[in-house]
Amino acid sequence: MGIEVVVEGLTKSFGKQNIWQDVSLTLPAGEVSVMLGPSGTGKTVFLKSIIGLLKPEQGRVLINGVDMVNSPERDIMETRKLFGLMFQDGALFGSMSLFDNIAFPLREHTRKKESEIRRIVMERIDIVGLLGAEGKLPGEISGGMRKRAGLARALVLDPQIILCDEPDSGLDPVRTAYLSQLLIDLNAQIDATMLIVTHNLDIAATVPDNMGMLFCRNLVTFGPREVLLTSDTPVVSQFLAGRREGPIGMSEEKDAATLAAEQQADTAPLPTGPRTVVPQLEPSPGMPVRQGALRRRERVMSMLGQLPEAARTAILDSYAPAAGGARA
Ligand SMILES: Nc1ncnc2c1ncn2[C@@H]1O[C@H](COP(=O)(O)OP(=O)(O)OP(=O)(O)O)[C@@H](O)[C@H]1O
Ligand SMILES: [Mg+2]
Repeated sequence: MGIEVVVEGLTKSFGKQNIWQDVSLTLPAGEVSVMLGPSGTGKTVFLKSIIGLLKPEQGRVLINGVDMVNSPERDIMETRKLFGLMFQDGALFGSMSLFDNIAFPLREHTRKKESEIRRIVMERIDIVGLLGAEGKLPGEISGGMRKRAGLARALVLDPQIILCDEPDSGLDPVRTAYLSQLLIDLNAQIDATMLIVTHNLDIAATVPDNMGMLFCRNLVTFGPREVLLTSDTPVVSQFLAGRREGPIGMSEEKDAATLAAEQQADTAPLPTGPRTVVPQLEPSPGMPVRQGALRRRERVMSMLGQLPEAARTAILDSYAPAAGGARA
């Protein structure tokens, strides 16, 4: 079963440049979470901080009692074995076959026999739908296949926490839809805690249990998917609608003058009001029930009172039997 990841008061700078400050959130065990945010807001830096590859100046990241920021490096290395990582660019070795790429973490971090390695690698290759391509070099397959190979490699060490950095970048809409389903099926099969960084609004709307957004050096919000999907916070609604109008500009933040001018301009009012929350993806037929979804239901129902009205309504709708949203 997945493991909870607790982030407390995390602040990260490079020299004088503050990337984000005082970020606190909990990735619930075995649930799928998505982190949104304009380019350059530090999403990749956040993932790297969670696994302890980058060191924030303040705060803690607690996993099974180990603080990935401040614990001894030995404990951090040990805890890192719980992770599966899928990088933004696939990060495959160009001169190695897909098989060898996917086998790499096993050969590097375990003393398993080649026969055992072969069994595990072929199983993961099957999960991501790459059977038959294992002998190919990364340069000989499509970008979408490389993405899936990166995912297969992230899976070989039986991760309990999976971090995916823009798994959809460079994929066409159909492949992105398959990838979304794959992520949900994977979660159903291994019950790992998952954090996905993406710009893709379809993934954001259909895959995660929870969603957060980084903007302007802060975590704008993090919580059940319905909270973001119904939010009327300007940055959130602008991002989710993919609009130019709003606080997010080309260089992340618009300057005050531009914003004021925009607000003065006599343009048509922006669409506001309740947004519809599309149903979350269910595992494919034949897959196990998502344990994370069952736990989430309990968790979210117990926090209903603290949530905004629109989110509460959306949650109740999604769990109402008539909506076809009954999961248990
Ligand atoms: N090792 C580093 N040293 C110095 N600055 C860094 C380092 N890594 C990242 N940065 C800076 O941190 C900021 C956030 O980078 P990051 O890659 O996390 O953004 P991102 O949200 O992942 O963007 P994108 O959506 O384009 O991938 C950038 O300004 C980047 O230049
Ligand atoms: Mg990034």
